[in-house]
Amino acid sequence: MADKFYITTPIYYVNDKPHIGHAYTTILADVLARYHKAEGNEVFFLTGLDEHGQKVQQAAEERGVSPKEHCDEMAPRFLELWEKLHIENDDFIRTTEGRHVKVVQDILQTVFDNGDIYEDEYEGLYSVSEERFITEKEAESGEFRDIKKLQEKNYFFKMSKYQQALIDHINDNPNFIQPEHRKNEVLGFLRKPLGDLCISRPKSRLNWGIDLPFDNNFVTYVWFDALINYVTAAGFGVDDESYNKWWPCEYHLIGKDILTTHAVYWPTMLMSAKMPLPKSIFAHGWWLSGESKMSKSLGNVVNPLDLIEEYGVDPVRYYLMREMVLGQDASFTMESFIKRYNSDLANDYGNLLSRVTKLIQSNFGGIVPDSGKKEGTEQDVIVSAERTISNVQSLINAMKVNEAIEETLQFIRGVNKYMEDQAPWKLVKENKDSAGRVLYTAAEALRIGTLLLSPVMPHRTGVVLETFKDEGKELRWGKLAPGTELQKHTPLFPRINIKKEKTPKVDEDKNTVTYEDFKNLGLKTAEVLSAEKVEGADKLFKLQIKLGDEERQIVAGIAEHYSPEELIGKMIVVVSNLEPAKIRGVESKGMLLAASRKKDLSLIVVDKEKVSSGKKAY
Ligand code: ME8
Ligand code: MG
Repeated sequence: MADKFYITTPIYYVNDKPHIGHAYTTILADVLARYHKAEGNEVFFLTGLDEHGQKVQQAAEERGVSPKEHCDEMAPRFLELWEKLHIENDDFIRTTEGRHVKVVQDILQTVFDNGDIYEDEYEGLYSVSEERFITEKEAESGEFRDIKKLQEKNYFFKMSKYQQALIDHINDNPNFIQPEHRKNEVLGFLRKPLGDLCISRPKSRLNWGIDLPFDNNFVTYVWFDALINYVTAAGFGVDDESYNKWWPCEYHLIGKDILTTHAVYWPTMLMSAKMPLPKSIFAHGWWLSGESKMSKSLGNVVNPLDLIEEYGVDPVRYYLMREMVLGQDASFTMESFIKRYNSDLANDYGNLLSRVTKLIQSNFGGIVPDSGKKEGTEQDVIVSAERTISNVQSLINAMKVNEAIEETLQFIRGVNKYMEDQAPWKLVKENKDSAGRVLYTAAEALRIGTLLLSPVMPHRTGVVLETFKDEGKELRWGKLAPGTELQKHTPLFPRINIKKEKTPKVDEDKNTVTYEDFKNLGLKTAEVLSAEKVEGADKLFKLQIKLGDEERQIVAGIAEHYSPEELIGKMIVVVSNLEPAKIRGVESKGMLLAASRKKDLSLIVVDKEKVSSGKKAY
């Protein structure tokens, strides 16, 4: 039976435009939602905006607009970003919506009627930036800005009453707070007496909020308002069927900055209102800019829009998901972004993709060949595919997204190795059926690997899956039907170039050669059959090329400029009679021609398709 899966992100403050941290949590929720959908679960994925409170009021004041106008102008910026990032959320909640205001007031009234809200005169230290009263000790910690002494009448929620119940709940439900070290952090916090929570703000001080239903001289504290969004969207009080179906949610995804509000305030609020608690709260770590915190004042905030523009959505999604170990902090650098992209996407995945499609195109007219009789090596690939599918599923259920991706990449690397060992480009001349068997196996493995990556990179994997037609969607070995016609597509993961090439010294113009010398130079056309990194050398590719009837291997320093995918099938020009050499221990028979200027390099290629390999070039 299909399970339901309700997942939420924090609702983000609209005081500023969205940054990479907001993008991260939302992509993570999207990726998890997509994996769960692919597993056949019914998914509800919620994100939205936190529009009330002091921060937003201040941001509006600074811009000289009303808070409502400010929110209405900011909301589309988030929505546009989610669209650009291919986020498929099921609902988008804004706390200024009527549906939410009503639920907040209903719950406040219930908690009030249960005797859990009282009025008190309070004198204490108030942190304007955090929007809450803080203890003396917290004030001394230096972590809080804008502290002032305040004395005022307010309403308080009897959070302390639920302290023991919360401790018991955490202990009885080991998955309630994840990962483990965050759970311990909360339990540590709960070892000290828990105070009550001030849940009102006098309108004399702040009026951008939801009126308390029992005293309209006050608005609701922004956190008491915001947390409730998770049940509003599920249909609380309006649509019982929907509410009972979706609530409690499987996961509240949050950053570690808002752990206490989610793991202490929210569950005690729900206990008082006699509502079920969320099944799990998962707090991920922090994206740092290199080694330091991202902050506006340091000017090192990564803007997700710039990244998408430059590198495309899927590589950005891939990097963020692959690079962060869920629960720990991660460091964002352009260098690691490009490195990760080139090694995993341009080389590993892109290589398999281009080899399989191009070899099937050139040898089987683009038609997926018969799977034939499976040998031991094929059985190994099948076993590995099945193990990968099941491991990825368990890793996703255990919230280990980066490991699930790595597991998939390991599988893909294994299939590249299988291709290398079987060399279908050679096999095809001796035994076409055997080459067909290898290519079927590789194509099916490619389809499985692509499906496993599709929650992370829905767009580009979609292009690949298109080429497999309707057979593309099922995550089970053997679903690819022989006879399926593969369509061509443009290279999906071209390499990103980083390093500068040295400019070669050009003095050829002065040293003339005779026509006789030139004539003896074996310049010939050749087709690239495959390209593979030379182990331990970032710049070198080992190319298999076809020179007329002959097949040979050359080594070329072009790995930083091309992905294997871009190379395969290209008709290049090589110096065929150059003395053979060993480069990094790898045999090279000939040299390809390329033009280079500064850091750019461009292969010399034949631009008419009619010219075949092995022809003399002049
Ligand atoms: O706290 N690394 O909203 P917010 C990783 N409105 N994640 C980051 C990040 C970073 N550097 N920066 C931000 C609020 N995030 C409240 C939430 S929920 C009922 C109310 C992500 O706009 C992360 O998910 O400050 C963090 O928890 C959230 O943005 C904070 O967003
Ligand atoms: Mg924040």
